[in-house]
Amino acid sequence: MSKLRTMAGRVGAPVRALVRRSPRLNAALWDVQYALGLWGYLDETGDGGVPLSLIETWAPHPRILDLGCGTSANLALSRGRYRHYHGVDISRRAIETARSLDRADASYAVADIRTYVPPDRYDAILLREVIYYLSVAEAADLLRRLPGLLTTRGRILVQIYDVQRSREFVAVIRGCGLDVTTWQPPEAGEAGPGAFFVLTPAAVAGP
Ligand SMILES: C[S@@+](CC[C@H](N)C(=O)[O-])C[C@H]1O[C@@H](n2cnc3c(N)ncnc32)[C@H](O)[C@@H]1O
Repeated sequence: MSKLRTMAGRVGAPVRALVRRSPRLNAALWDVQYALGLWGYLDETGDGGVPLSLIETWAPHPRILDLGCGTSANLALSRGRYRHYHGVDISRRAIETARSLDRADASYAVADIRTYVPPDRYDAILLREVIYYLSVAEAADLLRRLPGLLTTRGRILVQIYDVQRSREFVAVIRGCGLDVTTWQPPEAGEAGPGAFFVLTPAAVAGP
């Protein structure tokens, strides 16, 4: 499974760099990838319970914004443990699948997260396996904007499945005035949920 992830990443990287400048082309490319089932394996991947368990350490019964949510099928959200879930993805197809899950207390939007303005403030903003589909400048821009969308107890949770690549993001994250308050190192093995970074606006972080 990890080989598949790596392969999809390597094959897709040059193409993504070319098309991401155009939101329309980017959306079309992601739709095609979902139609071809290239990301179907994600739906069974990792431990989808980890994000909610982590979020509950700082915000029980949270209001969650999931940017680049994909189908969100791999995210375990048990009814009653969250207040609201809002999933956003550039792929219409992925959002159709997400909607078909018929989750309680959930809403969705088809949008480009580089420019999307969500309707609320959130206790947790998730960026799961999406940050490296943005350029470094775009990722930095987004990370600087997200604190303004958090509640007072809110934090940002970045999940990076490809653990080898996760370290390179720490510098980007710190450069955006965010403290990495938690880094849950990955467990040994190929099919784990990857690395998690909990990010807190620097002014809010504890000692
Ligand atoms: C590898 S998938 C991860 C999906 C999901 N977060 C997960 O972990 O299972 C990356 C997702 O990011 C979405 N995406 C990529 N660039 C985006 C953008 N600029 N705006 C919104 N979504 C984007 C893709 O459509 C895709 O669903």
